[in-house]
Amino acid sequence: MIINTELEKKGNLFPNQIISYEKDLDTLYFTTQNNVVMQVTVQRDSVLRFRYTTTGIFDKDFSYGISQKAGEGFNHLEIEETELHYVITTSKLICKIAKANLHKTIFDVKDNHLIYEDELGFHWEESYKYGGNIVKMSTRAQEAESYYGLGDKPVENNLKGKRFQNWATDSYAYGRTTDPIYKAIPFYIGLHHKKSYGIFFDNSFRSFFDFCQERRNITSFWAQGGEMNYYFIYGPEMNDVVASYTDLTGRPYHMPPLWALGYHQCKWSYYPESKVREVTSKFRELNIPCDAIYLDIDYMDGFRCFTWNSEFFPDPKGMVKELKDQGFKTVVIIDPGIKIDKDYWVFKEGLENDYFCKRADGPYMKGKVWPGECYFPDFTNPEVREWWANLLRELVEEIGVRGVWNDMNEPAVMEVPNKTFPNDVRHNYDGNYCSHRKAHNIYGMQMARATYHGLRKFSYPKRPFVITRSAYAGTQRYTSSWTGDNVASWDHLSIANQQVQRMSLSGFSFIGSDIGGFAEQPNGELFARWIQLGIFHPFCRVHSSGDHGDQEPWAFGPTVTNIVRKFIELRYQLLPYLYTAFWRYVQEGVPIVKSLVLFDQNDANTHYRNDEFIYGEKLLVCPILEANSKGRRMYIPSGNWYNYWNGEVITGGEEKWVDADIDSMPIFVKEGAIIPTYPVQQYVGEKKIEQLKLDVYYKKGKENSKVYEDDHDGYDYKKGRYSLRNFNLVGKKKSLTIQQFNSGKFTTEYNTFKITIHGLPFKIGKVEVNNEITDISKLNGEVEFVVPKDFTELHIVAED
Ligand code: GLC
Repeated sequence: MIINTELEKKGNLFPNQIISYEKDLDTLYFTTQNNVVMQVTVQRDSVLRFRYTTTGIFDKDFSYGISQKAGEGFNHLEIEETELHYVITTSKLICKIAKANLHKTIFDVKDNHLIYEDELGFHWEESYKYGGNIVKMSTRAQEAESYYGLGDKPVENNLKGKRFQNWATDSYAYGRTTDPIYKAIPFYIGLHHKKSYGIFFDNSFRSFFDFCQERRNITSFWAQGGEMNYYFIYGPEMNDVVASYTDLTGRPYHMPPLWALGYHQCKWSYYPESKVREVTSKFRELNIPCDAIYLDIDYMDGFRCFTWNSEFFPDPKGMVKELKDQGFKTVVIIDPGIKIDKDYWVFKEGLENDYFCKRADGPYMKGKVWPGECYFPDFTNPEVREWWANLLRELVEEIGVRGVWNDMNEPAVMEVPNKTFPNDVRHNYDGNYCSHRKAHNIYGMQMARATYHGLRKFSYPKRPFVITRSAYAGTQRYTSSWTGDNVASWDHLSIANQQVQRMSLSGFSFIGSDIGGFAEQPNGELFARWIQLGIFHPFCRVHSSGDHGDQEPWAFGPTVTNIVRKFIELRYQLLPYLYTAFWRYVQEGVPIVKSLVLFDQNDANTHYRNDEFIYGEKLLVCPILEANSKGRRMYIPSGNWYNYWNGEVITGGEEKWVDADIDSMPIFVKEGAIIPTYPVQQYVGEKKIEQLKLDVYYKKGKENSKVYEDDHDGYDYKKGRYSLRNFNLVGKKKSLTIQQFNSGKFTTEYNTFKITIHGLPFKIGKVEVNNEITDISKLNGEVEFVVPKDFTELHIVAED
């Protein structure tokens, strides 16, 4: 055997001294004597992109991760040459580039504090096996640095001391040590000295991140091919890091329909039709709110996508219509594997048009999934995506399905050791032809993208709803997601909490877990505790595998049913609050679920906290994660907080015991908050909203709250038909004032607010609405009154 020993021996290679530099508007090119070029693009004042080539020539610049709408432009850019460095200065950052070796150091322009520092910096190994390079980057960890993000890793929030890889993998019953799992989101956040920055390594090959595991003070990342191509995103606030990251990789293209934020019921599988009816009727009979019902793979004819099993579902259109009349939206699963069957129209069309993935030497990529042997559409081909989108026409336009659930799109292949395609499979990659090594991590994303476009087209003028299991950075533009096949255990309840927080920090807020656990069966207590957590996740769905018994809200006896109902009702009451948080996420990229570190990065106590989180802007939530609990200790972040259940005010900055028997859980409201609620409905749109309830929590000082509303579906809100209420609260010793500023052209159905004031420290003398004295009634120490919805100032004054 002949081996190219010269190549093999080369090992790590490094750039050497800079011999020239060029500037082209916002982009700088530094060329080294050994032909490495580092391209630095000033994307924004706080965002720098670094890209390297080792041949002097860059490949075509193409990314599925970066949004077309990503903001560009900066206020200030200066470049200066010193004896040893080139120095780039923006209005936020200073980046020094060493002439000797391209090493970078980045400082905060305001106080010159060191934020980020290359150790070996960029280096590479030539890939003898595949060509190209294994590209590597190593940086110095700063004192007491913490790390967050990286998608769906099922571990504690802070990633320090751990190593991970990104390679989307079907991971039935994964655990804390399983890595990788379903998603590949190569984005992390570093935090030290109260300053936070992010790194988005936009490389879809199998990539690795080491957070001070291999070497105590070194954080590194590398990929098995492609370019060293990454974005440095400066905060210093973590919220701004996440917001800038979602600006780069995109925010959801639009608001979800409000029903998608309701409660969803799923099972592998509800069939035949009579079973689906039995489940949906039971929800209505027991008055447990529910908006969506799911059909898993058994609705299809032999698991053939876009077909129906006519024995189990003789009249899909009739059934979907009947469900719709009862307020249920039908969501169906669609997997990527297309059954090899010459009589099956989808297979035939795919074959005739050459839409399926092929192996290196020409045969089709054949793999087993639920239908048996399948071929797989190449979703990286734009023509295939269009075909796929059009395949949804009948399901959506004719039958009336409202959502599509994309599963197995890592892509998963059964009965093979690597659980997916072999590396040699070819992909179009939007004209950048490549192998599966490069396309694997974005395959699921491109499938969800195609599905999204089909749904959007055929459900127009309604908004589409998609769910995906696999995802790469940026997938949040198209779809929601869940955390895959978890297990009904107490540990998995905690994992679900972690994963949702982590995905939110990674720019993907529309996420939830299989409530109750997918594999195995929870007992009633675990199910109730999981529902309590799940109603605070943006995507709220109970799902479980068929082999392990029932998992509907009534499956665990009346006590649990009542608890479950109570919490699902709470979710429905809080819908305008969640919708407002979602709107902020869509507008600004602010996560809906916020880990405590994101809420208060300056408090070092939050850096290793896992269980508590902030929901929206104003609620502090902490799930109960152990059996037989009557409460728990939890960390209360700084500030004053009202216990949601009893109105008691506590001051944060320390751990506290909080009572929470099985029918309760720790929920706190930030002082000064104004929380909007709707009446309980069995499904979104069941009731006309006659009045908006506002719960006002007195604070001495100022606080701003917002309420966003629109038609709850459709696209009119994009033309200004929305209603945004901005409430400024000012509490003083003897008065409380709320000013309201409105914008948008949407007229809400209700005309009044019912206001309840909590924690008022004085007896009311008078209430003025727009300077006119109004009548009030006092109830149970709390104060409730009705005011017109468009008041501009509400003034509550103490008795003399
Ligand atoms: C996969 C999915 C699961 C689904 C099952 C059958 O395991 O993760 O949610 O129920 O396939 O389609």
